Amino acid sequence: MKIAVLPGDGIGPEIVAEAVKVLDALKLNLELQSAPVGGAAYEASGHPLPPATLALAQASDAILFGAVGDWKYDTLERALRPEQAILGLRKALGLFANFRPAICYKELTHASSLKPELVSGLDILIIRELTGDIYFGQPRGRRSAPDGHFPGAEEAFDTMRYSRPEIERIGHVAFQAAQKRSKRVTSVDKANVLETFQLWKDVMTEVGKQYPDVQLDHMYVDNAAMQLVKEPKRFDVVVTGNMFGDILSDEASMLTGSIGMLPSASLNDKKQGLYEPSHGSAPDIAGKGVANPLATILSAAMMLRFSLGQEAAALKIEAAVQKVLAQGLRTPDIYSEGTTKVGTQQMGDAVVAAL
Ligand code: IPM
Ligand code: MG
Repeated sequence: MKIAVLPGDGIGPEIVAEAVKVLDALKLNLELQSAPVGGAAYEASGHPLPPATLALAQASDAILFGAVGDWKYDTLERALRPEQAILGLRKALGLFANFRPAICYKELTHASSLKPELVSGLDILIIRELTGDIYFGQPRGRRSAPDGHFPGAEEAFDTMRYSRPEIERIGHVAFQAAQKRSKRVTSVDKANVLETFQLWKDVMTEVGKQYPDVQLDHMYVDNAAMQLVKEPKRFDVVVTGNMFGDILSDEASMLTGSIGMLPSASLNDKKQGLYEPSHGSAPDIAGKGVANPLATILSAAMMLRFSLGQEAAALKIEAAVQKVLAQGLRTPDIYSEGTTKVGTQQMGDAVVAAL
């Protein structure tokens, strides 16, 4: 089993190192190979996703990804910015199905910004479509406005679009995931305003008829944003488009205590996947040894489960993470009085010890 390890920028290398440590401790027959990506790759070879890195990713069963980005690249032309590496990988590998679970571990109930009773026992799965929508829709650009309120003024535009097959395939992913959970899907749209999301809603309704055991409801995205902080436990599986999923998954992360706890998986139709924490590169804390490696370690568990068929090993990692939390070990992002503050490496070591 071949794994491409792409640490990236900011805290990426520190947290990926801990996940690799955990994988090594399991003594599975994994072949790990690293390559630069994001700003680090731009510095080394002038492009955030160099051809050799892309080739390595394409030839691997799975990709373990850290994070990319740094404010210092904000002035580069868009095609050279670090974010293009992750968008390029999603597109090139067809990683259309993004799983972002938001689980509130009982030990972290008090780390959430919401009242403990609202989040204790929370277990939501956000399924975000990842290769369509306004992120990739053409045409896009900047030009002199041909019409509108200010003809001739500088304007910029992007295109929101979804095709029926794109919606169908993410719909099937969501309904099948719900069958393994509490059998409820909430499809989030903006059908009251947007054509794209009227089609989304229509197709989700049709796909849902093939899953009579799963209960489907529809919710507008603004209401979903509100319900996520009002009554988050009403949700089980949430399926939505690329941009709404980007926003709602960050929002959901706060229910769990810290975005430093949230793993993610992005899969294509061949079960090849990219596994990364849901958080970013956090350049402000990079190199300080304080970043929480648990989201990346839990992403490695998802990798074992979804792409490598190693369910038992995945469960072992997840149990080890529960154990270190029960032991009271906390990185600063999840620290509260009465617990023990540890750094990135100590947290990784503790997970290995718990294994
Ligand atoms: C995410 C990130 C990315 C996205 C950025 C880094 C391009 O925010 O994975 O949620 O918008 O998809
Ligand atoms: Mg995001």
